[in-house]
Parts: sequence; C-alpha cells; structure tokens
Amino acid sequence: MQGLSNLDERDIFLRGKTIILKALSENDVLQSGWYGWFNSEEATEFVQQRYFPNTLQKQLEFYRSGIANSSTKIQLGIVPNGMDTIVGVVSLSNIDFLNRKAEFGIMIGDNASRGKGYGTEACLLLVKHGFERLSLNKIYLGVHAEHTAAIRSYEKVGFVQEGRLRQEMLTNGRYVDTVVMSILAEDFRGKTAEQ
Ligand SMILES: CC(C)(COP(=O)(O)OP(=O)(O)OC[C@H]1O[C@@H](n2cnc3c(N)ncnc32)[C@H](O)[C@@H]1OP(=O)(O)O)[C@@H](O)C(=O)NCCC(=O)NCCS
Repeated sequence: MQGLSNLDERDIFLRGKTIILKALSENDVLQSGWYGWFNSEEATEFVQQRYFPNTLQKQLEFYRSGIANSSTKIQLGIVPNGMDTIVGVVSLSNIDFLNRKAEFGIMIGDNASRGKGYGTEACLLLVKHGFERLSLNKIYLGVHAEHTAAIRSYEKVGFVQEGRLRQEMLTNGRYVDTVVMSILAEDFRGKTAEQ
C-alpha cells in the first residue's frame, strides 16, 4: 500500500536477525498476498491446501475463527527487515499443554522471499518460543518426502526424521510419502549449548 506502512511496532512479537514475526490482524488478510498464496501452484507445490480455491472471505473467516482468539494455535506473520508486509506465516497449532507438544507449520507465500533463509529463521524463532516460553517438550510436523528445501530447513533447526507415512499425498498423479519430523526440548537445549 503506497504511502501507508502496514507494520506497526506494537504488533511485533518476535525479533530475529533478518525478519520479525508479527501478531496477525485483519489488515494482514486484506493488505497482503496471504489468501492468494493458497491459490498459487508454486507456493502450494508440496502442501495439502492445493486442492480447493481460497478466497478473501475464507481467509477472513479462517483468521477470525481459527487465529484471533485461539489458545491452541499461534500463527504469526513473517516480515523481512526493511519490508512492511507479511511474506509468509508460521504457526504452532494443536498446542497440547497436557503432553506439552505442538505441530509446526510454515508458508512463505511470496515467491521472491523463498530461498533467502527467512523460513529457517522463522522456524528457529517460533521453536525457541515454543520451548522457552510455552514450555513445550516436543514440536512435530509432517512434510512431503520430496520437499528438499523444507526438510533441509527443519534439519538445520534441529528436527530429526522419526518416521514415514506411506502414500499420504497425491502429487501430479503420484502418491508420495509424508516424512514425520520432530524436535524435543532436550535436543534444542543441546543444539543451543553447542553454538
Ligand atoms: C519450505 C520453506 C519454509 C523453506 O523456507 P525458505 O526460506 O524458502 O528456505 P531457506 O532459505 O531457509 O533454506 C533452507 C535450506 O533449503 C535449501 N533450499 C532452499 N530452496 C531450495 C530448493 N528449491 N531446493 C533445494 N534446497 C533448497 C537452502 O539452500 C537451505 O539450505 P542451506 O542453508 O544448507 O543452503 C519455504 O520455501 C516455503 O514456505 N515454501 C512454500 C510452503 C511450504 O512448502 N511449506 C512447508 C510445508 S511442510
């Protein structure tokens, strides 16, 4: 939006070296490319949300009913330094405070913003928040077995592969496995101590 800054300092929740993670609002739904990312063949090549079209209305409802007041999901917007609009979103969902675990998810929807290290840094920031502030013991995720960039990014943060779900996703006429990965609080503490 020309002349208008979408980034309000008061919304910044986590700060990294190359990005910030911000609390999401209806403005982010209205003013960023968010809903369109889920219509983009490129951005959704390896994710489940590629089968049904998305709309601005659906995205607003998703935000209002699933994020705005949720106590089992945290979803934040990714804004690279020097920019004022989200280029992606990152989340911890299914937060389970009894077993102290949650599921990690990420979407860098803006094509020009992938492959610049933002995904890995966003993952690291939210995983750190999960272990150090939410007191989680385990963070897990599922990833398309051929999604090299995502698997590499998760491994850099300290996730390990713990299993495979066979033929979970139909991609271009082929059924592909999902790799289940996880990181434990003790792995994260060990990795942080090494650095
Ligand atoms: C997967 C995703 C989160 C990775 O984030 P990113 O910012 O693009 O990736 P990074 O720049 O942090 O790179 C992570 C690693 O993957 C490598 N990588 C990046 N793009 C790659 C590609 N197209 N092929 C192979 N490796 C790639 C990088 O080189 C880096 O490894 P390195 O540091 O050893 O060189 C991001 O691309 C994305 O959101 N994609 C669309 C939605 C999606 O697929 N979400 C994941 C669902 S599980």
